[in-house]
Order: sequence, then structure tokens, then C-alpha cells
Amino acid sequence: MWKIADLEIKTRIVLGPMAGITSEAYRIFMKPFGVGLSFTEMVSDCGLFYGNENTFSYLPTNNTDRPVGIQLFGSKIENAQKAIEIIQKANVSFDFIDINFGCPVPKVTKTGAGSSWLKKPQMLEEYVKQIVVFSPKPVTAKIRLGWDEKSINFLSVVESLQNAGVVAITVHARTTKQMYTGKADWKILEGLKEIMKVPLIISGDIFTLDDAISALKITNADAVMVARGAIGKPRLIEQINTYLETGVRLSDAKLSEQIEYLKKYADLLIAEKGENQAMMILRGIAPRFFNGYPGMKGLKNVLSTNLTMRADLDNILNGIK
Ligand SMILES: Cc1cc2nc3c(=O)[nH]c(=O)nc-3n(C[C@H](O)[C@H](O)[C@H](O)COP(=O)(O)O)c2cc1C
Repeated sequence: MWKIADLEIKTRIVLGPMAGITSEAYRIFMKPFGVGLSFTEMVSDCGLFYGNENTFSYLPTNNTDRPVGIQLFGSKIENAQKAIEIIQKANVSFDFIDINFGCPVPKVTKTGAGSSWLKKPQMLEEYVKQIVVFSPKPVTAKIRLGWDEKSINFLSVVESLQNAGVVAITVHARTTKQMYTGKADWKILEGLKEIMKVPLIISGDIFTLDDAISALKITNADAVMVARGAIGKPRLIEQINTYLETGVRLSDAKLSEQIEYLKKYADLLIAEKGENQAMMILRGIAPRFFNGYPGMKGLKNVLSTNLTMRADLDNILNGIK
């Protein structure tokens, strides 16, 4: 058991925020596999401020999984504060405000948001300080190692964040320049936990149980964040959690179990987004439930192109022997 501020987090697995994926339906689907904490996908502070309907749909409802953090991104103190005010008025359920200092996408960094903050740690400290003072909920942050390999500055950024009053920090062990490629460097984070005053969550390349074991062993982090590795493979979270709690290694899910998981996720997603939008999202995600299962190439192609209605999904899945 570990804590962020006064809140007990029941497992050492954090679900990584992913734009376009970690909607409430996805989080609720993943929770029973052993997720201790999750985050919304990144939410634009200006999007909330300008009343963008899409942006509002990223906020949790009162039926959401808990604990959950709302992740904000932006470039100005006033906008972040306005966004927090709007979130408070919207009367949604949440536990933390998380600030995104990790997004590497140029559309975001060129506005001064996301990981471009890593290039200005002093301003970052003041930004977070003003958010912490303003926010009625505790504030957490997610960073990368630095902007590029020549400006690795996570140590000073962590210090700035702690000075500013954050209650937990996630480090994605890549630079901004790496985007999502290359290997996450857990080794460089060795010793960080020992000098931190707040919990450390480690992110990057957790695709197997052994990845999680190694990352936790090397970094001694409080928790491991699972992102791409669990898309279509929710059992990974269960494998990590069971191993950490009991030392037992669970086997991978059987094909029949994957089919049931996918149906459950589809139901939740349809309830959340409506049939049309849910099927569009599933075209990207459903095939991943069959990665690593032999003889599924044709089926994966069909899932990625032919889904328009729930009935299509049932027909396709019923055809699996
Ligand atoms: C499609 C996609 C969307 C992502 N969106 C977000 C986001 O909104 N906020 C964030 O902090 N990280 C985001 N990430 C980063 C992940 O949370 C995670 O830190 C990263 O993928 C490294 O973990 P992994 O290698 O285990 O996937 C995203 C990653 C992917 C692949």
C-alpha cells in the first residue's frame, strides 16, 4: 500500500493516460484487472475555457473509476486556473489535478505547453506553484527525462515540482525528442526515488511482467505506469499486480477470454460514446486483443476495417473457433 497525499492507492499499477484511448469506459474496463490509479487523457485548459464540447467529454462523470486524476495541459497560469474553476463548477468526481509536462507532439509544444515546459524549469516551478495554491485538489505532474539527450534535466525539474508543492511525479523515461521510440531508460532513474520527497511513478516500455519487475527493481519506484502494453492485453495489469502481491506468475489470457474482454469493453464504449463513434475507436483497438494469438491476421484486418455496428463485432467474434 502506498499513498499520494492522504489517499491510499490500493495497487502499484497506474494506468497511463493516452489521448484517444483512456476515456472513462476504458478506465472502468481496466480497473478490475488491478489498476490502482488512473488519469484522464490530456485535457486542454483552453478547450475547457472556450467551452469545446469534445474537451468536456474527457472529464470524468460521477460514475467514474476512482481514484482518478484529471490531466491538464496548457501554457499560462491564468488558463490553468480558469480550467480548474470550470472543473469545480462542472461538479465532476476526481481526486487529483495532473499537469502534463510530457507531451512531445509539436502541435502542443509549439504553443509552450506539454514537454516544452522542460526547457524553462524556473517558469515551470512558478506555473505549478500557482496551480497548487489555486487547486482545491492535490496536484501531480508527469514529465520526461528532458527535451533531448543533451538537456536531460529531470533532477532539477523534480526539485522544482517538489518546491512547487506537487504530491506525486510520474517520469516517462524518454526525452521529448525520442517521442515514443528508442528504449525507455530506467537505469538513468536509479537513485532518484531515494532523494524524492513525494511518490515516484515510472513510465516507459512496460510491455511484459518482466518489464515491470525490472523497472521497479532498478528505480525502486512506488508504482509502475502501464500504457501501450495493456491496450488489448488487460491481463498484463493482473499479471503485474498478482506477482507484486503474491509472487505468482499468471499465464496470458486464453483466446476465449480475450473475446469476452473485448465484448465487455465494447459494451462500455458504446454506452459512453454511442455505437458509431465506439465502432470507429474499436477499429483501432479491437485488433490488438488478438496480437500474439496465431492465425488471427485475417480477423484483425476485418476488425480494423469492417466495424460499423455492434452486430458486426458480434458476427466477427462469433466466427472465431
Ligand atoms: C497514443 C498515446 C497517447 C498518449 N497520450 C498521453 C496523454 O494524453 N498524456 C500523457 O501524459 N501521456 C500520454 N501518452 C504517454 C503514455 O502515458 C506513456 O507515458 C508512454 O506511452 C510511455 O509508456 P509505454 O512505453 O509503456 O507506452 C500517450 C501515449 C500514447 C502511445
